[in-house]
Amino acid sequence: MKSCQKKNRLINVKDIRLQDEQTFAHCVNVCVMSIALASKLSLTVSKIKSIALGALLHDIGKVLLSPTLLHKKGKLTDSEIEEIRKHPLIGYNLLKDNPDTSATTKVSVLMHHEHFNGNGYPMKLTGEKIHYSARILSVCNEFDSIVNDQNNQNVLHTTDAVEYLIGASGHVFDKSIVDEFIKMIPIYNEGSLVLLSNGIIAIVVKNDPVNLTRPVVRALYNTKTSSKYSRTEIIDLRTDLSIKILREIKTNINELLRG
Ligand SMILES: [Fe+2]
Repeated sequence: MKSCQKKNRLINVKDIRLQDEQTFAHCVNVCVMSIALASKLSLTVSKIKSIALGALLHDIGKVLLSPTLLHKKGKLTDSEIEEIRKHPLIGYNLLKDNPDTSATTKVSVLMHHEHFNGNGYPMKLTGEKIHYSARILSVCNEFDSIVNDQNNQNVLHTTDAVEYLIGASGHVFDKSIVDEFIKMIPIYNEGSLVLLSNGIIAIVVKNDPVNLTRPVVRALYNTKTSSKYSRTEIIDLRTDLSIKILREIKTNINELLRG
């Protein structure tokens, strides 16, 4: 009787919201990013719709996990990690008999935690054995998790998250998908002011579309010596890897330069 009720249960995105507002917000974020990325990758409208639904439902399996476990702060035990790692398969089982849900949506839910190098779960698939839709989802899912997840102790700034994706591309993620994804992330607009790791305040002169975290900048002011640059000093962060941008800054640079 119980299993019959489960089988006939209608799957609704609201189920996620009832369980966990934060997971719901995460699913919406992943959905928006997945639509943009799938469009950029020139997929058909029907594929994009399937991926969008997969993104909305990718963590639906968590509705059958314990809320105490999902909201636990701090380090999880091995058995708790194992329990949480069941959610892609639970989600797939909730969807698999639904005739109105496409195979692409179902498989993207099942495979959204698989890694290109075979270290993911639940099936430890490698490379192109992971469905393309799931490879798209996994990049968007990871990016939103590390930038926005309040339970994640290692939340990163956008730039560091992009650096992480670049470092993990070809290993954890499909490189061709990461390459397209990072082109969508607006990081530093040309003309914006940034603080560099060597203490220099600089203005972004030119973005490299392949690596948006490392633009060409012009040094304006050295915070360590409290001095401005009298000559044009260009720093190309694409080649000068010893320096990185710490953050964008909102300051009245004219006041600094006048002083
Ligand atoms: Fe997940």
